Amino acid sequence: MTQNTLAIVVLAAGQGTRMRSRLPKVLHPVAGRPLVGHVLTTASRLGADHIEVVVRHERDQVVAALSDAYPGTVFVDQDDVPGTGRAVEVALDAIPGFDGDVLILSGDCPLADVDTLTAFVAEHRSTGAAATLMTAIVDDPTGYGRVIRDAAGDVDRIVEQKDATDDEAAVREINAGMYVFRAAALREYLPTVGVDNAQGEKYLTDVPGLLRLAGDRVAASVVSDVTVTFGVNDRAQLALVGRLLNERIVRRWQLEGVTIVDPATTWIDDDAKLAADVTILPHTQILGASVIAAGATVGPDTTLVDCEIGEDAVVKRTDANLAVIGAGATVGPFSFLRPGTVLGANGKIGAYVETKNARIGEGSKVPHLSYVGDATIGRGVNLGASTITANYDDVNKHRTEIEDEVHTGSHTVLVAPVRLGAGAKTGAGAVVRKDVPAGALAMSVAPQRNIEGWVEKNRAGTGAAEAASRAHDAADKAGDGAQEEDR
Ligand code: UD1
Ligand code: CA
Repeated sequence: MTQNTLAIVVLAAGQGTRMRSRLPKVLHPVAGRPLVGHVLTTASRLGADHIEVVVRHERDQVVAALSDAYPGTVFVDQDDVPGTGRAVEVALDAIPGFDGDVLILSGDCPLADVDTLTAFVAEHRSTGAAATLMTAIVDDPTGYGRVIRDAAGDVDRIVEQKDATDDEAAVREINAGMYVFRAAALREYLPTVGVDNAQGEKYLTDVPGLLRLAGDRVAASVVSDVTVTFGVNDRAQLALVGRLLNERIVRRWQLEGVTIVDPATTWIDDDAKLAADVTILPHTQILGASVIAAGATVGPDTTLVDCEIGEDAVVKRTDANLAVIGAGATVGPFSFLRPGTVLGANGKIGAYVETKNARIGEGSKVPHLSYVGDATIGRGVNLGASTITANYDDVNKHRTEIEDEVHTGSHTVLVAPVRLGAGAKTGAGAVVRKDVPAGALAMSVAPQRNIEGWVEKNRAGTGAAEAASRAHDAADKAGDGAQEEDR
């Protein structure tokens, strides 16, 4: 019965000195989640009875970053005895009655996927070994613990790089830092592990050797794809692991029917969702919980954070955050959509337009050079080039309400709070401070007055004055030119 129960211990207490960061290493984000978040996402899919995260360095920050996203996870505090062995020991102390299998993962190794780990646990159970190590054969084993085998080829022990002899250091089979142990084996041997080593730490990696000395069997599962073992100790590895995770996500969506023209410059967070027949053009980031419906085209040069893009919409060279784009709508190029932007079906947000907290109705267009903030816009509206909602009076933000079929003239300033009734129009350059009734034309610019000859009189000798004189002479000649033309 008990032998098929599983506890997962995720090690996340270390400082991550080599990152040289204020942020704890395991919280550095890749593909839209902290490193340890990927490990917990995978762990949550393995059907474990317990999931524990061992914390110490910046423990409050780590717990705060994870507890909402991973309910049911138990956080266990490591004391001041350092080392991975101590981390596992405190985790086991927190589940005193548990005597099944313990899968140990590192918070800094986010590439081990569900299939790999499921097969790993199954392999451990099928051999009946007291412990199974995940190992890999690599060209450059620098930094990893080495797997030392006996004459029969069985695992004898693990030696850390810093404690290795030259011969041991030359071994290319590395400890991936992922293990399955029988809980009883850990409970028996971890208390006996000392700190007499180069790092003065209680090493988890001492346990396999102790098991062997006691006559227990230690198995090794050699992975064929070494990338699943890659961990992050510094920023170069952070970038590498981020790229590998992204490649995996891109491939997953390609197999689901998404065209991704340039995988190398397309970044998709793990939580984003894309439908079949979406096309992603180069240099595009689909971040957070963005959702893109069938037939939409996004990019090039576009960043979407937590956006919803409707069917067949086109979003080009755009930066958008928490925006909802309706089916068949077009956005860009060079549009900036801030939180609360909702564009209706077949609507348009065009070049050099910024929007915020704005509902723009079906088929409505904001085509050129506008700012639309704190506004509600009905259907079939067209805002002339450079229409601006002046929503902020230095103290408060106010709303602009624009009803169906309103057309504004170019360079209209809508001084909020203000309402434009259905079908209303504004003249070019209007500064609208009062509500406009349905169907009215709002004009606020004084009638134009031309002062004839002003330039020649007041700017004599300038290029403008000379040009004006030439134009006047030409007009005078044209006046009696009729006879000349007849000649
Ligand atoms: C460890 C292994 C090494 C293996 C490598 C694989 C040990 C002694 N060494 O080395 O054999 O090849 O992983 O990536 O286990 N942690 C704690 N508490 C601590 C110390 C560390 O929870 O007291 C956590 C860290 O936050 C990290 C993980 O354990 O998530 C591994 O620690 P790290 O210092 O990165 O170990 P490595 O030197 O990489
Ligand atoms: Ca590590």
